[in-house]
Amino acid sequence: MQKAGILGGGQLGRMLLQEAANYPVETYVLENDPDCPAAHLCHHFIKGDIRNFDDVYNFGKDLDVITIEIESVNVDALEKLAAEGRRVIPTPAALRIIKNKVSQKAFYTEHSIPTAAYRVVQSMNELQKHIGDWLPAVQKIGEGGYDGRGVQVIMSVDDAAKGFDSESVLEKKVAISKEIAVIVAVAEGGDTALYPPVEMIFDPYLNLLNFQIAPADVQQNMLWRIQAVARTVAKQLSSPGIFAVEMFISKEGELYVNETAPRVHNSGHHTIEANYSSQYDMLWRILLNYPLGNPASVESSSLVNLLGEPGHTGEVKYEGLEEVLKMENVFVHLYGKKQTKPGRKMGHVTIMSKDKQDLVHKAQQIRHALKVVAH
Ligand SMILES: Nc1ncnc2c1ncn2[C@@H]1O[C@H](COP(=O)(O)OP(=O)(O)OP(=O)(O)O)[C@@H](O)[C@H]1O
Ligand SMILES: [Mg+2]
Repeated sequence: MQKAGILGGGQLGRMLLQEAANYPVETYVLENDPDCPAAHLCHHFIKGDIRNFDDVYNFGKDLDVITIEIESVNVDALEKLAAEGRRVIPTPAALRIIKNKVSQKAFYTEHSIPTAAYRVVQSMNELQKHIGDWLPAVQKIGEGGYDGRGVQVIMSVDDAAKGFDSESVLEKKVAISKEIAVIVAVAEGGDTALYPPVEMIFDPYLNLLNFQIAPADVQQNMLWRIQAVARTVAKQLSSPGIFAVEMFISKEGELYVNETAPRVHNSGHHTIEANYSSQYDMLWRILLNYPLGNPASVESSSLVNLLGEPGHTGEVKYEGLEEVLKMENVFVHLYGKKQTKPGRKMGHVTIMSKDKQDLVHKAQQIRHALKVVAH
């Protein structure tokens, strides 16, 4: 039986492990928190720091294949493991490009992949110097930001004071009409499968995805462009794995790549029920060198993220769970986190229906009925 390791033990790892039970695989998780969402679903939990060279190297050296569920891992250790013959998916080279937003943007430019215009700044000082003729802008720290925490919208020169004092990308703010994400699956030999694009609606305050519809409602021409761009991103990264390509459609009808994640992604949670082969099932097929599955949609879906309620920190309690569980074609996923805090991703709910009105209506109903609060 193959031994597969996952760096990181969050909800993505947890859902990946739920699918692992269908395959001949022995699973390993490396993570600091022995109570993390993935800890109790793997065969072997190893406590350690995914950013530490020795921890990652020692974790991976006797495994057949290693993957990630978060980008902030020690890539040097993965490089050494790959050089010693371990299969590392995605490749350390692809991970290195994506991990830093500066190199990620350079990659898009180099391969003529459309992306918002940008400058690179090294410090607050440089930010102040370059902001004047570049407004409105979005500043993104090069490394370490996630869930919107490394992103700052800068509307005016005064706003620049709340910017980041570290190496970052300063993008022109795009007037967004729609946010789209496409998941691409790439097998070891290069076989590729594309999931239908999803459409996202964000909370402007928390910067977190909280409502999604799949498949996205876009015109045929735009769909072809989206698919072509997603394929190009995956092809140029030349790595097996699952890649989630986030894009914007601007008010002028232009398509831009926002960012790519080299792993299973929040925008693919619905694929568990709403697609023939889920992103998690697909990743196991890739990791274990089996043929790709069918990414096609079984039925349209909407997805609500369950975030910790503002003002609630402490031991978690779910209000309104019974009411939601009574609803038809509604699927609840809780991530098993013991502590809630404002905005923390605690679970998600997938809704399936042929009728778009029903998808929107039920999503709103669930957002109001189900609350993640503290005891
Ligand atoms: N150039 C831009 N113009 C307008 N809005 C933007 C721009 N870049 C980012 N945003 C907005 O900010 C959100 C977060 O940006 P981004 O995806 O780069 O950050 P992130 O921290 O990696 O987020 P996540 O981990 O949630 O994907 C985007 O989904 C989009 O709504
Ligand atoms: Mg994003």
